[in-house]
Amino acid sequence: MCLVNGSLRGQKASSFHFLSRLEKHLHAAEIVSTQVSVRARPRQGYSEDTLATLDRADVLILAFPLYAYCLPGGFMRLLEEWARHAHDGPARKPQRVYAIVNCGFVSPDTNAEAIRVVKHFCARLGLRWRFALLIACGPAVIATESVDLRLRRAMKRIVADIQSDACEPADDLPIKPLLPRIIMDTVRGRLDRNSLRELLAAGARLPSANSAVGAGPGIEQALQLASHARELPR
Ligand SMILES: Cc1cc2nc3c(=O)[nH]c(=O)nc-3n(C[C@H](O)[C@H](O)[C@H](O)COP(=O)(O)O)c2cc1C
Repeated sequence: MCLVNGSLRGQKASSFHFLSRLEKHLHAAEIVSTQVSVRARPRQGYSEDTLATLDRADVLILAFPLYAYCLPGGFMRLLEEWARHAHDGPARKPQRVYAIVNCGFVSPDTNAEAIRVVKHFCARLGLRWRFALLIACGPAVIATESVDLRLRRAMKRIVADIQSDACEPADDLPIKPLLPRIIMDTVRGRLDRNSLRELLAAGARLPSANSAVGAGPGIEQALQLASHARELPR
């Protein structure tokens, strides 16, 4: 089984946190797993080792944040490289795929379009799509996980599904924060700003407002772009 962290924020990411939580349940069920993480603009592309890890897995768990209502570019790159690698390699038995997507907005449905993209990807590669956890305001769900059992139940549901022979795609599981929307909207802007700062520090590039290609923008310009695109409080 392979767990993919699709966030460039690495171990600080909510995506990583969700995978770590799931890993505990997997280990309790004696299911062995390994983790792969995306990297910012890998010069030589992903290693044969990384791509082969994805090839070998009988189950893939794809965890990623929502960026501009879709999959982050760094995560898309890993999927594209793996798709080419898998296409050129020997035929494999259909791998089962689950996704854990988390976003900044308070509605789990915000993630729906990104999941449609993942489903198309699975169909194109002959992977067996199972279902997704659509997590709204990921950091807030994490902050209240000790009092809100929905996340734990959802993780257990993935483990039970892995252990079953089910093959018909199941319904996605929406998870929204326990806290009221008015509080969530207040903290969201700050969380997004912090994430963006960490991404730029990790080497991610956003398109510059003045040039189509070129060096990444400064933090202020990036925040300005993000706020235009996503109506962040400025
Ligand atoms: C560049 C950027 C774009 C984002 N776009 C969206 C978006 O379109 N919709 C949304 O709800 N959240 C958006 N977010 C918020 C992230 O999805 C949210 O902070 C998430 O918890 C980050 O997950 P991670 O810690 O796993 O990277 C964006 C964040 C950044 C940094």
